[in-house]
Amino acid sequence: MAAIEVRDLRKVYTSVKKQPGVVGALKGLFSREVTEVEAVKGISFEVAEGEVVGFLGPNGAGKTTTLKMLTGIMVPTSGVAKVLGYTPFDRRSEMLRQIALVMGNRQQLWWDLPAWDSFVVLRELYDVPKADFDRRVEFLLESLQLKDKVHTQVRKLSLGERMKCEMVAALLHGPRVLFLDEPTIGLDVVSQKRIRDFLKEVNLKERCTIVLTSHYMQDVQELCERVVVIDHGALVFEGSLGALTEGYSETRRLRLTFEESSAVPDLTAYGEVAETGENTVVLAVPRRDIARATGEILQAHRVVDVSVEDVSVEEVVRDLFSRP
Ligand SMILES: Nc1ncnc2c1ncn2[C@@H]1O[C@H](COP(=O)(O)OP(=O)(O)OP(=O)(O)O)[C@@H](O)[C@H]1O
Ligand SMILES: [Mg+2]
Repeated sequence: MAAIEVRDLRKVYTSVKKQPGVVGALKGLFSREVTEVEAVKGISFEVAEGEVVGFLGPNGAGKTTTLKMLTGIMVPTSGVAKVLGYTPFDRRSEMLRQIALVMGNRQQLWWDLPAWDSFVVLRELYDVPKADFDRRVEFLLESLQLKDKVHTQVRKLSLGERMKCEMVAALLHGPRVLFLDEPTIGLDVVSQKRIRDFLKEVNLKERCTIVLTSHYMQDVQELCERVVVIDHGALVFEGSLGALTEGYSETRRLRLTFEESSAVPDLTAYGEVAETGENTVVLAVPRRDIARATGEILQAHRVVDVSVEDVSVEEVVRDLFSRP
């Protein structure tokens, strides 16, 4: 059985358009202009048990809306969603005990209490046996190096420390499916890495199924074997990360830095310009031409730094969305 099954899932938000002023408010009493936004337009996909899947798409694509439907926070307009065989919106306690949701931009811990106090409340709420709780807390705090932070008021913690505490809170009851909505948003690279390593460990050790959204491609590259990409509420790609970037593997990015901006030459003869900075140019060059192009450019121009990079997933996704 798939851990998550989504079929023709749709969500239409309706909101009443307010007209300005008193007259508008009065008018509104009699005729209400309703606007509809179809945020998710009938998507289907599955996630196998133990898989880590990246749920990608540009802003407003419908990612958060979908996660809310999968965790029972929101009722779908139509379609089917199943998580561990349960319909999320029924909010059966057997299901709630086996899933967790972490939202990077929303706090779930009590702000004025030390994280530890929240953990204890959650233990009661989820009825976690004391011995299990002790063992799990030990493992979670150890892997996230949080031990000396849990007795400080949450409001006094740094963003990264808070996020780690959120992770502990979400995982205390040992969920089998973990939904993460931009878990590393706003964190510095070190904290991002720590969270990624931690998620890998949780996936590996506990075979926890993970679905995560992120705008940071590093997260996707390091964690997700498979990605589901949506745009404007519709599914545009589903498959391995490799398959997504395939076709891009024949080009490399040649990053060149010049002494000053006035020394940046026109290099379009060597490849497509993928990016320009003040005194840098990134060229998309076919793999077989890299050596020759680099040699010629170095000879003809005053280059202070040069590097060859793979095409980033971010670029591929951006490309995917900018297609007509
Ligand atoms: N409560 C709401 N009422 C009306 N429209 C909404 C509501 N929540 C979201 N939307 C709209 O639904 C669409 C999808 O939003 P959603 O938050 O799911 O996108 P997202 O993929 O999570 O984007 P982001 O990457 O910015 O977080 C957007 O057009 C958004 O404006
Ligand atoms: Mg979102």
